[in-house]
Amino acid sequence: MAPATPAAVIVLAAGAGTRMKSKTPKILHPIGGRSMIGHALTAAVGLNPRELVAVVRHQRDLVADHILSLAEVLGTVPVIADQDEVPGTGRAVQCGLEALVATEPGPDAGPAEPVDSFGTVVVTYGDVPLLTTELLAELVATHEAESNAVTVLTALLEDPTGYGRILRDTDGSVAGIVEHKDATAEQRSINEVNSGIYSFDGGMLATALAEVTTDNAQGEMYLTDVLQIARAAGGRVAAVTTTDQWQVEGANDRVQLQALGAEMNRRTLDRHMRAGTSIQDPATTWIDSTVTLEPDTTILPNTHLQGTTHVSEDAVVGPDSTLVDTTVGIGATVTRTQASGAVIGDRAAVGPFTYLRPGTVLGEQGKIGAFYETKNTVIGRGSKLSHLGYAGDAEIGEYTNIGCGNITANYDGVNKHRTVIGNHVRTSSNTVFIAPVTVGDGAYTGAGAVVRKDVPAGALALTVAPQRNSEGWVEDRRPGSPAADAAAQARVGHGTSHTPQPDAGA
Ligand code: UD1
Ligand code: MG
Repeated sequence: MAPATPAAVIVLAAGAGTRMKSKTPKILHPIGGRSMIGHALTAAVGLNPRELVAVVRHQRDLVADHILSLAEVLGTVPVIADQDEVPGTGRAVQCGLEALVATEPGPDAGPAEPVDSFGTVVVTYGDVPLLTTELLAELVATHEAESNAVTVLTALLEDPTGYGRILRDTDGSVAGIVEHKDATAEQRSINEVNSGIYSFDGGMLATALAEVTTDNAQGEMYLTDVLQIARAAGGRVAAVTTTDQWQVEGANDRVQLQALGAEMNRRTLDRHMRAGTSIQDPATTWIDSTVTLEPDTTILPNTHLQGTTHVSEDAVVGPDSTLVDTTVGIGATVTRTQASGAVIGDRAAVGPFTYLRPGTVLGEQGKIGAFYETKNTVIGRGSKLSHLGYAGDAEIGEYTNIGCGNITANYDGVNKHRTVIGNHVRTSSNTVFIAPVTVGDGAYTGAGAVVRKDVPAGALALTVAPQRNSEGWVEDRRPGSPAADAAAQARVGHGTSHTPQPDAGA
């Protein structure tokens, strides 16, 4: 099929979406890692149209700001068209076309190009998140191959209630669309419905819309009236019927949004499995449509991959892990981990029970183990933070071993400070680094060290006070306790005596 490059795609997004029962506009609700309108615009931009238009009205500024914020990922700045107080899909498209005429420069940047020289104009909705570029391209290709005035995307539904019905002549050609509310009982028995997605001849569309009135059950300008008008003017009106109903289904409430989200996830997982990822338990695996996975990756149960997360070849993620905007290197393992904005190096190991916060960069073959939290910390190749600690605003060199329970005290109550630790360092258990502080290459720290001063390369940093044993303290101060009895028995066993000390433990 020839690649389809329409003049414009107009995405309708002016409706209120009251059934979501939400302060957030319906089309801004997330599904599979994007807003609903984000999916609609992504599918549209795949057609490579000259212009991408979004028609807005309800919560206009919020919606327009969101759409414009997608410009970078879409690779184009959508044109925002404001619908006025005239209701209906026909008026929405008319407003879209007007914005388009104002945007498109004429030849030699002269007066605006008349819309009838535009070519094909595609109309879709902002709340149909499973629609793909492929189906839109098929619609456009048929439209152009048949030189149609209008080509409408239709579906056969078991329960067509609420939808506009497709009226066909005895020869099967499309005669028009009648809205459910305007339909006769006989027309309501038709189960071929209008998806609301169309390919139009742009010039014909503008001319026909000028004839559309609000004379109907809902007092709206129906876009669907364009079909009859085009036919009466001698244009060819046809349909492309999809058997994939999910692609034309809109989300009107949170029940439908959930169903569409589950189906989107199922399709995403299928796509990854077909491309070489093993997913042990699709029922508990949720992967955003924005995530990328290389072949020969393994995703274990109850794992959520979100945003721009990327997992490289031979890596194993899960079980019980949530990765947001995180990169996992070749052959790395990530177990029972919550990570956001992190980079995990090749053959590195993370988890279990690990919390990686933004700016964590773990080098090749590095390790961040159980009950560790890291933030804004770069860890060199082969370095290990194996158990129980916090590393924030730190730089750790290569092949360094951070002992159990180490903490970077990075916050003085007002400002954050950096801890810099060199290569081949060995820190003992419960070392606290009072930032800003630097530990040189090959240095060691003793258990419980509180490192306030820089440690030169190769030095051993000790801050421990000498230990004093107060003999007999327990029997004096805790007489009759199980500990005192145990101590007395141990003394008898060793043949030692105990003289009570009047100032024991002082
Ligand atoms: C419309 C179609 C119907 C079709 C159905 C598919 C018309 C007259 N009817 O019905 O044949 O079966 O979609 O879902 O076109 N919108 C605007 N401005 C408006 C009104 C709507 O931008 O003034 C947008 C909405 O935000 C939504 C889309 O258009 O994205 C459809 O609106 P909606 O009210 O749901 O359409 P229906 O009347 O159900
Ligand atoms: Mg309506």
